[in-house]
Amino acid sequence: MHDIDKGTLRRRQVAARTAMPDSIRNESGRLIRDHVLEMPQVTSAGTIAAYYSVGTEPDTRGLIFALWKRGSYVVLPVLLPDGDLDWASYEGPESLAPGPRGVLQPVEPVRGTGTVARADVVLVPALAVDVRGRRLGRGGGSYDRALARVGPQVPTIALLYDSELLPSVPAEEHDQAVRAVARPKQGITWLPV
Ligand SMILES: Nc1ncnc2c1ncn2[C@@H]1O[C@H](COP(=O)(O)OP(=O)(O)OP(=O)(O)O)[C@@H](O)[C@H]1O
Ligand SMILES: [Mg+2]
Repeated sequence: MHDIDKGTLRRRQVAARTAMPDSIRNESGRLIRDHVLEMPQVTSAGTIAAYYSVGTEPDTRGLIFALWKRGSYVVLPVLLPDGDLDWASYEGPESLAPGPRGVLQPVEPVRGTGTVARADVVLVPALAVDVRGRRLGRGGGSYDRALARVGPQVPTIALLYDSELLPSVPAEEHDQAVRAVARPKQGITWLPV
């Protein structure tokens, strides 16, 4: 099954995202936003760990704004020098500033790497996820470290384009699975993890 290595699959997935027109990216972000906002686990969540999209990722900015507007407590990652993730609150679009690699990060004080363990829902980026929840990220291992701290009952949801839920994704011992994916047309898919 795993005749493709992570590096090759990453390049393929990135190339497909790069080839996508902006109109599809923006529309995808809106559709994913609406699916996630309607999830009962999200409407009832006190704290949501999310991420601010960059580059060719499906746009999460509208989703984060909508969650915050309706009163959820949203925490976003702050990248640490060793690649691990700390977390700080999102307090509106003005509460962000460019961090390392130009990614917008919260300016609020960091709350510790364990903050993600107290979230009721965790939204994560991915380049691909397979039908067993195995997730391919951008290769820093940041989300493997963060997801390892999240309890087994917490919905961990990767936000993907429609073509990115694959039959199989290569995984190693340290890789942390996700429990669901959210896609523009297909909506939410729960995975047997
Ligand atoms: N818990 C961990 N502690 C320290 N290093 C880790 C941990 N988990 C993964 N790593 C390291 O991170 C590197 C990249 O891992 P991997 O290829 O799985 O990244 P990824 O899942 O695509 O990235 P990300 O999680 O940031 O989206 C690997 O060299 C791995 O050893
Ligand atoms: Mg990994």
